[in-house]
Amino acid sequence: MAIEYSARVSRIPVYPAAAGYALPEDVARLASNESPDPPLPQVIEAVTRVLGGVNRYPDPTNSKLRAALSDRFGVPASRIAIGNGSCDILLATGEALLEPGAELVYSWPSFSVYPQLEAASGATGIRVPLNDRHEHDLDAMATEITAATRLVIVCNPNNPSSTAIPLEDITAFLAKVPRHVAVLLDEAYCEFNVLDDPDASVELLKRHPNLVLLRTFSKIYGLCGLRVGYALCGDERFVTAVNQVRQPFFCSAAAQAAAIEALKHQDAVTERVERAIVARVEVEAGLNELGIVPAESQANFCWFDLPEDAVEADVVSGLAERGVLVRAGTALGREGALRVTYGTPQQNDRFLAALRGVLDL
Ligand SMILES: Cc1ncc(COP(=O)(O)O)c(C=O)c1O
Repeated sequence: MAIEYSARVSRIPVYPAAAGYALPEDVARLASNESPDPPLPQVIEAVTRVLGGVNRYPDPTNSKLRAALSDRFGVPASRIAIGNGSCDILLATGEALLEPGAELVYSWPSFSVYPQLEAASGATGIRVPLNDRHEHDLDAMATEITAATRLVIVCNPNNPSSTAIPLEDITAFLAKVPRHVAVLLDEAYCEFNVLDDPDASVELLKRHPNLVLLRTFSKIYGLCGLRVGYALCGDERFVTAVNQVRQPFFCSAAAQAAAIEALKHQDAVTERVERAIVARVEVEAGLNELGIVPAESQANFCWFDLPEDAVEADVVSGLAERGVLVRAGTALGREGALRVTYGTPQQNDRFLAALRGVLDL
């Protein structure tokens, strides 16, 4: 007799993990929107220092990290949640807010974990298509809000489409959302966005207790292997709620130490953003030479439709054979598209050359 699993498990999609973890080191890993830069030496030192104390549990209140984030953003520590990656806070948000009969509104294609929130909770997910510029359609999202809506997720810049909407539009959208509906602004890539000051959204928390800004150390800070993210919240009750539904020690001592140290090096953040912007311009120019027009990226990756005669799976496998790993659009919600993370200049050139070869141009 086989084990019987809950109906919940049968509803939850299996995460479409990127391939290639067992491949050799010299592969260009452009599939997971990671930073191409290794951790800063000071971050490695900070992590090494705490390893001698790992016979003790980590601080379950994450007090030093929350204090550092509070200093950085001017948000009281009581309104800052920490997570084992920002995904942890995202899933806890679903646990804390959703249940059968409740509704969740988000755009599509967007981050592949959002559908898990409705599947895990039994709530109804309402997906609003991106517009033809691959951007969130906030007006259409606002019309989907009903008395049953508990949570609206806006991913800005959006994964996988790379586009961002101006803060002005988000501000106008928030004014339309009733106070009982939580708005989670997923800002995993906000540091790469040049449309607005990445920290300008923090001001909105003062006027909107129903707003949560979800951020991560995985992308610009390059710490995804350690798993640490945070949420700046309009109301401290939200922090208590997401903590209630999780195990107490969700963020390791190494992750907390690394994040605290990484925050001290904003000069490195600026340099990384500048390099990503150069990569954005160069990759876009290279794609244009192949007759491809990507969406307007405000992130550390690009998103584009392949030429009509190209078969997505063949392109992805052809690139992999040439040592370049990218994400196929079908797994992310759009058949015939590719999402490609910007890497080092050498990796970007390798990707463009490989794509030219695969498309036989
Ligand atoms: C839009 C978005 N949000 C959240 C995450 C989660 O990142 P992490 O759990 O590593 O903080 C990702 C990761 O790719 C993402 O693309």
